Order: sequence, then C-alpha cells, then structure tokens
Amino acid sequence: EVGEEEIRPLIDRNLHLEGPLLPMLHDIQAAFGHIPETAVPMLAAALNLGRAEVHGVISFYHDFRKAPAGRHVLKICRAEACQSMGGEAMAERLLAQLGLDWHGTSADGRVTVEPVYCLGLCACAPAAMLDETLMGRASEARLMAAVEGAE
Ligand code: FES
Repeated sequence: EVGEEEIRPLIDRNLHLEGPLLPMLHDIQAAFGHIPETAVPMLAAALNLGRAEVHGVISFYHDFRKAPAGRHVLKICRAEACQSMGGEAMAERLLAQLGLDWHGTSADGRVTVEPVYCLGLCACAPAAMLDETLMGRASEARLMAAVEGAE
C-alpha cells in the first residue's frame, strides 16, 4: 500500500496551481500507476472538497485507475470504422472469455482491457493495441493468443 508520506509531496507541489486536482491526480497516477484509496481523503482535505467529489472526478476520467493495471494493457478500438467491421461483437466475446468488463483486470494480473477511440488503423479494422504493439484485422483468437503469449 502506498503511504501518505509518498503522496503528500505530489499534492503539495501542485497546491499553487489554479485547478490543482487534475495535476495532482496525474502526478499520483504517474508515480504509482493508479490512484491509491489513501490519496482520496488527503486530496479532499487539501482542496476543501468532499471525498465524493474527488471520487467523482476520478471516475469521470477513465484514464485514472482505481487499482493497479495488469502487466499488459490491451486497448480495443470502439470507434466507428472498427464497429462497422464487427469490432464491438469481437470485443464482447473477448471480454466474456476473459471474464472481464471494460477497464477490468484479469485475476492473475496479466491483462487490463480498455476501450480506445481510433488507433489510426481504420483500414485494417477491427484494430487493437497490446501494450505498444498495434494489431489490425483483430479477432478474439488473435488477441487472446497475443495476451497469452505476452511475458
Ligand atoms: Fe478503429 Fe480507426 S476506428 S482504428
């Protein structure tokens, strides 16, 4: 668990900013890979906000994680060109195979699945990206194999 003494400087160094909450959250996530629950009351106290308000902001921006990501992040495109090529159904089948919802992390910590809105691979839809590797003409079998083959 991340301790208060590790979080405190990331709050303090943004206190002078106008609209400091987002920079604080970005710094905290950059440092720890997610927003630890410990940070929420600290942020609320520092900014004179309710905890529910801080939670609301964290939930609103899907880039903020409430738990550490898996060792690999699989992003599946949900934008139009990929949808028209069956991307949505493919994603649903893959999520079902993994037993996950969007933004979920597999129990073994191997993979987190996230939506993305266009990877610039529309000509090879449906598209996905495993960590830094782009994959066109994706199928759930190929994505599953890539996830299982990743270290
Ligand atoms: Fe999916 Fe562009 S719409 S890559």
